[in-house]
Amino acid sequence: MKIAVIGTGYVGLVTGVSLAEIGHHVRCVDVDVRKIEQLRTGKVTIWEPGLEELMVKNMAKGRLYFTTDYEVALEQAQVIYIAVGTPESEDGSANTQFVEQAAKQIATMIRDDVVVVMKSTVPVGTNDRIYQLLQENLKHNVRVDVASNPEFLREGSAIEDAFRGDRIVVGANNLKAFEMLEEVNKPFGIPIFKTDIRSAEMIKYASNAFLATKISFINEIANICERVGANVDLVAQGMGMDKRIGHPFLKAGIGYGGSCFPKDTKALIQLAGNVAYDFKLLEGVVKVNQERQTILVERLLERFHSIEGKQITVLGLSFKPNTDDMREATSIIITESLIQLGAHVVCYDPVAMDNAKGILNTEITFASNMIEALGNSDAALILTEWDEFKEVDVQVFKQMKSPIVFDGRNCYAPEVMAEMQIEYYSIGRPNIP
Ligand code: UGA
Repeated sequence: MKIAVIGTGYVGLVTGVSLAEIGHHVRCVDVDVRKIEQLRTGKVTIWEPGLEELMVKNMAKGRLYFTTDYEVALEQAQVIYIAVGTPESEDGSANTQFVEQAAKQIATMIRDDVVVVMKSTVPVGTNDRIYQLLQENLKHNVRVDVASNPEFLREGSAIEDAFRGDRIVVGANNLKAFEMLEEVNKPFGIPIFKTDIRSAEMIKYASNAFLATKISFINEIANICERVGANVDLVAQGMGMDKRIGHPFLKAGIGYGGSCFPKDTKALIQLAGNVAYDFKLLEGVVKVNQERQTILVERLLERFHSIEGKQITVLGLSFKPNTDDMREATSIIITESLIQLGAHVVCYDPVAMDNAKGILNTEITFASNMIEALGNSDAALILTEWDEFKEVDVQVFKQMKSPIVFDGRNCYAPEVMAEMQIEYYSIGRPNIP
C-alpha cells in the first residue's frame, strides 16, 4: 500500500520505518529541513536500538522516502498517518494545533480517497473535530475517513514493540476504514482491537495513566517498606506473580519521566475536569511522582546536612535507559537542586550527554566515562539503570573520595555493597550497616 506519515519525530519515524519493513511504500514528511536532510543521509535523529539499520535497509529497497514537500508525500497515498507532537499547554491540556495544521494540509492537497489515521496522542473528541476540519477544507471531491490508531511503543524498545506489541487499537466509524487498517497492519501479525473512535482515543490515555498509577503505587509502598523494614523489590516480585497484577511497571525508583506519562496524566486530569469530573486518583499519582523526584537529594542532605562545596557524581541522565531522551528526566530537577545547594556536580551518561549539555545547568561538569565521573567525589547518585552501571564491578566506587552511593534504581544488592564496605542507600530496601 502507499502510505504517507506526517511528522518524523519519535512516533512518526518508528511508524514509517516499521510500515516500510512490512512491505508498504512509505513517504515521511516533516517541516524540519535539517531533520529530513539528516534522515536522507541514512542517519536517525533519535537514539533507538535497531532503528537505523531498518531505516537504511528500507530506504535502499526504495520503500522508504523522506521529504519536506507535502505534495510529494501525499500524492497517491491511500492512507495518511498524522504523527505530529501534541505538547503540554500551560494548563496541562494537550495542544492540538500541529495536528490541526496537518489536517488542513491534507484537505487542501489530496486528490484521491484516503483514510487519515491519527497516531498522535489526542484528547477524546479530537478525531471528530479533525474529520470536520478535513471536510470543511477539502479542495477536491474525494472521500476522507478518519481513524484513531494510538501508539503504545516504548522508547528504547520501540522496534521490538512495533513487531511484537500486545495489540493494535483501531477506532473508526465505518467498514472501509476498518478494512484499510486491517490490510495495512496484517503483516505485523498482532491482534487488532476494533472500537469506536472516542474509545480508542481514551484507551491511549487510560493505558498511560494506569501504568503511571502502578509506578506511583509501588513508590508509595517503597516508602512504607523503608519504615517497616520490608524490601520493595521482593514485595513487587511477590505481588507480580498474581496474574491480575503482573510484574511490569512495579519497579520502585525516583518516579516516572519522559515525553508521555507526565504529559498524558496531566492531560487526562484536564480532560476529566472539562466534563466536570475530578479525577482524584490520578491527581494523587501525579503528586506522588512530583514528590518522588527529589527524594535522593533529601537523603543526601540527611546524610551530609550540607553539600556545599562537595563533589557529587550523577550517573544516568536520560529519563530511562536505552534512550538519549532528556524530556522530563528527573536528572534535570536533581542536578539543578544540587547546584543550588552549592555542590559541584559531575555527570556521566552512556548516550544522553550531548542532549543533556543543552538542557542542564552550565556549571555541571561532564565526564567521559564512569571512572572519571566518580574520581574524587563525596557521593554518587544513580538516576538511570543503564546496563553499564548495573553490570560494573562495584569496586569502581571504592576509588571515590568517600564511597557513598545513593541508588535511585536499585541497581545493586545491598549485601554486596556492604561486603565491599560501600555506604549504600537504595529505594524501599533495608540498609545493611
Ligand atoms: C510510555 C508507555 O510505556 C508506552 O506504552 C507509550 O506508547 C509511551 O509512553 C507513549 O505514550 O508514547 P515511554 O515513555 O517510552 O513509554 O517509557 P516507559 O518505559 O513507559 O517508562 C516511563 C517512565 O517510567 C520512565 O521514567 C521509567 O523509568 C519509569 N518507570 C517505568 C518506573 O519508574 N518504574 C517502572 O516499573 C517502569
